[in-house]
Amino acid sequence: MEYWEKRFLDGGKIWGEKPSATAIYALKLFKKHELNSILVPGAGYGRNTKLFTDANLEVAGIEFSESAIDIAKSFNPKTQFFQGSVLDMPFNDEKYDGIYSFNVLHLFLKDDRISFLKKCYKQLKTKGFAFFVVFSDMERSFGKGKQIEKNTYESKPWRPVHYFTENDLKEHFKDYSVIETGIIEDAENHGELGLHSHILRYIFAQKK
Ligand SMILES: C[S@@+](CC[C@H](N)C(=O)[O-])C[C@H]1O[C@@H](n2cnc3c(N)ncnc32)[C@H](O)[C@@H]1O
Repeated sequence: MEYWEKRFLDGGKIWGEKPSATAIYALKLFKKHELNSILVPGAGYGRNTKLFTDANLEVAGIEFSESAIDIAKSFNPKTQFFQGSVLDMPFNDEKYDGIYSFNVLHLFLKDDRISFLKKCYKQLKTKGFAFFVVFSDMERSFGKGKQIEKNTYESKPWRPVHYFTENDLKEHFKDYSVIETGIIEDAENHGELGLHSHILRYIFAQKK
């Protein structure tokens, strides 16, 4: 938590104001399937939730960094924010048509990943949709740093990352009907790295 709070305090809108390419793709799928309400666990300061509220979706975000939520209040006031850990979901009784979660699931060790996904499953309506984006095993940092669990490395101190193969990601979503998985290259420009891209894996799946 301290790691993220410090990043937002020091860096503000770290990833800029534009949404991730994955959010643009997710929005196409959400429109195709006529979704109206979306939950975004780990919403940051709302660069992706803004894309969804601009498209007239009803959006709720969960985020544990107070600084990120402060930024979101002026940047994307249409998103309803709950402050707290996604591991403590639910924060309300609402069931959503869809969940979009960007680069959060891979931050947890195995037991917490399973627990997080169970909580997400419960917050979806029957036949609701999940679009999750995670670091893939094709990421540049894969294998760097101390190995904590299988395919999980601490490439930055205090921030373990689980790198997903396609089968591993599907296995995490075995309670859903998987509609599609794929790779999306996502450009970012921040910090010491400057302009760089991430090779992200996504899954789009439907609750049974
Ligand atoms: C890689 S960032 C992505 C942020 C946002 N989705 C975006 O791209 O703008 C991960 C986000 O998840 C938040 N986060 C990490 N662990 C969390 C947890 N356990 N509960 C709630 N938020 C968490 C961090 O504070 C950060 O905002």
